[in-house]
Amino acid sequence: MINIGLLGLGTVGQGVVEIVNSSQEELKKLVGEDVNVKKILVKNKDKERSEEIPKEKITYRVEEILEDKDIMVVIEATSDVEESYKNIRKALEQGKHVVTANKAIVSKYFEELSNLAKEKDRAFLYEASVGGGIPILKPLKEEIALNDISHIQGILNGTSNYILTRMFEEGLDYGETLKIAQDLGYAEANPSSDVDGYDTQRKLRILSTIGLKGEVKENDVLVRGISSISSFDVEQIKKLGYTVKLIGETNIIDEKFTAVVEPVLLRSDSYFANVNMAFNAISLEGNNVGELKFFGAGAGKLPTANAVLKDVIDILKGTYRKKNILGSRKLKNRNEEIKGKYYLRISLGSGEIPEEIKGLAEKILDPNFAAITREVEFQEVDKLLANLNIQDEKYFLARIQD
Ligand code: HSE
Repeated sequence: MINIGLLGLGTVGQGVVEIVNSSQEELKKLVGEDVNVKKILVKNKDKERSEEIPKEKITYRVEEILEDKDIMVVIEATSDVEESYKNIRKALEQGKHVVTANKAIVSKYFEELSNLAKEKDRAFLYEASVGGGIPILKPLKEEIALNDISHIQGILNGTSNYILTRMFEEGLDYGETLKIAQDLGYAEANPSSDVDGYDTQRKLRILSTIGLKGEVKENDVLVRGISSISSFDVEQIKKLGYTVKLIGETNIIDEKFTAVVEPVLLRSDSYFANVNMAFNAISLEGNNVGELKFFGAGAGKLPTANAVLKDVIDILKGTYRKKNILGSRKLKNRNEEIKGKYYLRISLGSGEIPEEIKGLAEKILDPNFAAITREVEFQEVDKLLANLNIQDEKYFLARIQD
């Protein structure tokens, strides 16, 4: 019997238990033994739990999992980054394999935890951290590892995509749609990570570090979110024949790369414009394989738990990439070269629109105020608005795709 310790019984943890219970026979066929979730770490002692979760499996003490010699694999599915980081370190040091779905931890401690796992000759796997249920990291690490990847582009946050889709297709309002995405279990504990672009930033950092075979850090990725979008913006943008998606994009030429997360206006017949609701899509360009596209459920209980369990199966079958996946390429960031034309809306109530702002416009859409800007650098408009003391929530800025 193979024993698993599960840290956390939120959306992902519950999905793991559900799939393990419903797939016992198939799991045994795949790995040759029964697979058992032996213990589950929870925080809230008094919460009502489903019958699928026997009381004797529940523990409030993480040591009961980390120090249990019968537990071979630890699945980390909690949301506290620092606590989880400590637990992952301890689990690897105790000789256990670790699987996590938490992109914040992978992004923050990617190099350190990958090196520790290598040193301890154990697996540290995180397929569910990018793209939810889409198998994307294993293909990047293995099936297309022989390629030089020159371009990575994706819709990587289900919550934002869900909000944008319902705003554009049904005219719903921002706050109302965010609330539904939270109720559906798509959003992070603090949904600012989703709508302000940080979740996409972390996922792009992970994808880019693996794909480019060199370190791309979180702060190498410029970020702008969708939290200030309004129904007025939706109307204006639709009139122009576009839709909006929160896009993460990395490009590399020689050893120089750009990486950015931002809302982008896309023509409604383009590929990414048609990736809707909580779906994610990722497009890669490799020198041998050409363009590859991946599409699927980017968030949610069972898709994410499925990706976690695929990692567990790889560990039990020994089919994961055992060499350290970190590449040694020395990459240079050239984000200062990112430029584009932008849709810009500012709401100042009865306040006058400053002349400097009007000076950015190539075409005014509404005098009070929405415009398409001339070509500007990524941070030029933000800097100008900050100098004029115009707060983030008073404007929406989205690049127009050529
Ligand atoms: N909050 C994340 C999202 C969950 O909405 O995409 C999956 O990573």
